[in-house]
Amino acid sequence: MKKNIALFGFAIAVMVLFGAANGFAVRLFRGDKTINLSQIPSPVFNKMTPAGVLLGKQLFSDTRLSGNNSLSCKSCHRPEFAFSDTARFSLGVSSKHVGRNAMSLSNLAWQPFYMWDGRVQQLEEVIILPITNPDEMAADTAEVLLNMNADNHYRKLSKEAFQTDTLYFRHIAYAISQYLRTLVSANTEMEQQIAAFKDSKTPDNAALVKKMMPFASDKVVAITFTCLACHTHDLMFGGLIMKNNGIDSVSNNQGLIVSTKDPNDEGVFKVPTLKNIAFTAPYMHDGRFKTLEEVVEHYDSGIQAHPNLSQELKDTSGGPLRLNLSQKEKKQMVRFLEMFTDTAFISANKE
Ligand code: HEC
Ligand code: HEC
Repeated sequence: MKKNIALFGFAIAVMVLFGAANGFAVRLFRGDKTINLSQIPSPVFNKMTPAGVLLGKQLFSDTRLSGNNSLSCKSCHRPEFAFSDTARFSLGVSSKHVGRNAMSLSNLAWQPFYMWDGRVQQLEEVIILPITNPDEMAADTAEVLLNMNADNHYRKLSKEAFQTDTLYFRHIAYAISQYLRTLVSANTEMEQQIAAFKDSKTPDNAALVKKMMPFASDKVVAITFTCLACHTHDLMFGGLIMKNNGIDSVSNNQGLIVSTKDPNDEGVFKVPTLKNIAFTAPYMHDGRFKTLEEVVEHYDSGIQAHPNLSQELKDTSGGPLRLNLSQKEKKQMVRFLEMFTDTAFISANKE
């Protein structure tokens, strides 16, 4: 518990530092060219420019990136749902369902790996995958490049962003990555509460959190520290580590094991961000839970004894943790999760 409390303190410091950037992120998304992109980390080979971001934004909703011009990135990463899909498994161009739930997209610039099984480390690389994947966008790469280069507007933006008016796949991936890095969500109710109470005098962090969440019982306050031990709270509330959260007792070679081949990584998945979680149903890598209530039920009484079950979700004798929440407390847990809604982010991206 001590470690968790220290983490929460750290989070508050980060939030306060980051607070100044909130407004700019929203304006950035709206295409305001006067703001400073240098506050968002990006790799040396793909520094952000306003033209690159704009090109990426337009490509993100361009169906010409898919085989039969029917899908864009936006079809599965829908802005009004914090860039996730409401379907358990999204439909690819061949009307085949993809095998995973489409992830919500925010604060990607700060994340060390991508995909549910964490198999990709570079955002630029993530972009190419859905475009060419036969089950997703199934694009013919030659045809995509022909179409993109026939578009004078794109050529002009490319010239500005990459000093060349001939677009290659690299430029498409770079531009979309630049745009995705501007999707900063840092103004959730939780962050507003942290900012509001940061100077208040309280005996300890639990008392501070209690002030931020006056609706929560002491037990629920304590449990939020367990949640946030994995859904780590500096800036993102997730996206930084990989763990097993006991959704299955057997995971059939899924998760991080796909790239490491290490049995200790079986059933180990990216801890997703809690940002805008109320908008991103269904939940988990396979979208098995339809509602936040079902997610809370999982953590309350459904955790399975998987060999790789993470320590945070075990009880003192090593078995799966049982929270034994009352109905009232389950509602409070849902309310806690709703505090990760960033209305400014959702409305700015809706257009
Ligand atoms: C057919 C639906 C579909 C389309 C179209 C699609 N995606 Fe995805 N996206 C997914 C799914 C499903 C995942 C999770 C894949 C996995 O874990 O194996 C994902 C994962 C991602 C991630 C990783 C996010 C994270 O937090 O790790 C990014 C970034 C991403 N997609 C961007 C894009 C971009 C850019 C495009 C357009 C070029 C696109 N996607 C098109 C369904 C889709
Ligand atoms: C041991 C680390 C760990 C702890 C502790 C933990 N989680 Fe998770 N959480 C995960 C992982 C890993 C996933 C994704 C699992 C998957 O998809 O297979 C996840 C998924 C979720 C999701 C679904 C996210 C999405 O985008 O689909 C929600 C909501 C969630 N957790 C809430 C909570 C709450 C509430 C608590 C505290 C009661 C909690 N978590 C505690 C690791 C953890």
